[in-house]
Amino acid sequence: MTLAKTEATSGTGLLPRVLAFSSSLSLDRALLHEDLVGSMAHVTMLGRTGVIPRAEARAIRDGLVALMERSKQGQLELPDEEDVHMAVEVELNRTIGGPAALLHSARSRNDQVATDLRLHVREAAARTLEQLTGFIGELVVRARAEKDVILPSYTHRQRAQPVSLAYWLASYGAAFLRDAQALAFVLDQCRLLPLGVGAISGTSLPIDREVTRTLLAFEGTTLNGMDTVGDRDFAMDFMYATARFLVHASRLSTDLIDFTTAEFGFASLSGDISMGSSMMPQKKNPDVFELIRGKSGRAIGNLVGLLVTVKGLPGGYNRDLQEDRAALLETAPLLTGVLEVLRLSLPRVTFHPEKCRVGVDEGFTQATDLAEALVKKGMPFRKAYQVVGSLVRRCQERGLTLRQASVELAQSIDPALDQATLAVLEPAGAVARKQSAGSTGPEAVAVTLAEIEKQAAVLRARAQSVPRLEALFTSLKESEL
Ligand code: ARG
Repeated sequence: MTLAKTEATSGTGLLPRVLAFSSSLSLDRALLHEDLVGSMAHVTMLGRTGVIPRAEARAIRDGLVALMERSKQGQLELPDEEDVHMAVEVELNRTIGGPAALLHSARSRNDQVATDLRLHVREAAARTLEQLTGFIGELVVRARAEKDVILPSYTHRQRAQPVSLAYWLASYGAAFLRDAQALAFVLDQCRLLPLGVGAISGTSLPIDREVTRTLLAFEGTTLNGMDTVGDRDFAMDFMYATARFLVHASRLSTDLIDFTTAEFGFASLSGDISMGSSMMPQKKNPDVFELIRGKSGRAIGNLVGLLVTVKGLPGGYNRDLQEDRAALLETAPLLTGVLEVLRLSLPRVTFHPEKCRVGVDEGFTQATDLAEALVKKGMPFRKAYQVVGSLVRRCQERGLTLRQASVELAQSIDPALDQATLAVLEPAGAVARKQSAGSTGPEAVAVTLAEIEKQAAVLRARAQSVPRLEALFTSLKESEL
């Protein structure tokens, strides 16, 4: 029990309560495979550089392979140690004996855990990036199918201007694309290998970090050991990308929660994603979207928690960093869980074009289009703005929509409001006439969707090219030693 003690630490064992308090094993056993692969690379390097004899290095590597195989078959019960690193070493000693004592040469748990975490984040970012880009692709397809549905857009949660449903969907597509870019940035932050810096200052043993770097498929080695052992930036970046994606998913959810109320009536949920009430027989609730919104709070909490953990630490390694674990390990499942449910739920939201159009008309949302039509006829915008404002007021007093206003009523305000000008109030036309880049006009939306699709495909290819743990394990098993 507790290998990480010497006579200097006082020969006695730890108080059981203290061991339990300090142990991270219950959480970091989730990093077992990362730990085994990292150790296989380390021991291969030790053997190749002659830091330890090759025969012993081979025995250790084979022992690690055996532990991996047992773990995959569900046959590996880890001994009760301080953390996964000590547990692996103790179990290795139990299975191969003597040579196990050589494994930890030129290594500390400080660079070991930094390596495990980077391998974990690299893989998790690659997997989630692949999933997210898949979702973005589906969103684009859905948007193309919804280009003829016109609904009001909102500013200040007040009806603003008519837009196509494709435009609304593309707005979230653009946000999710930025989240995919954020995940790609996480991959950038996982490019350098921590292993080899030891506890803080490196080692006098003749190791070669280049060998380990190649074996674990990193692009370089970290620049400074003191920084490396205290660095969890890559974990924060992953938590930030996740939190931001969840914030976007949360806003999308709020839109849909609103749109499916009787008050909006723009859309409805299929029965297989709506929940009932245990008391009110009539209820059909959007719990899935509320839960997505709720989970975004957790993701934000995880990010803030790690920032706070790191903020007051002195340079170098501090045990506080172990508190990164629960939040970091929760991050990928949180992202994947929300994404999965979003991918299932969005196709099960049906929009009602007629109800959406009522919202467009009742909200006087074409008022800006009418003002712009007057501008095209030569009226200064500020005047046109006042003229249309007066017409809106008259219509409101009479209980009319803009489209119901007669030419006589319109011309009593300004003669420029003739029949042809009033024709711009037709909602589909109001959308179709928008031609500026990034607008709701059909051509602009088509360009936007093509761009989102193209960039997502590039990011997806990037995610797929990231080396996976399983592939590293397979090649390390056979690599020259
Ligand atoms: N259990 C720690 C963690 O998981 C690693 C141990 C680091 N080292 C130490 N010097 N006590 O982060």
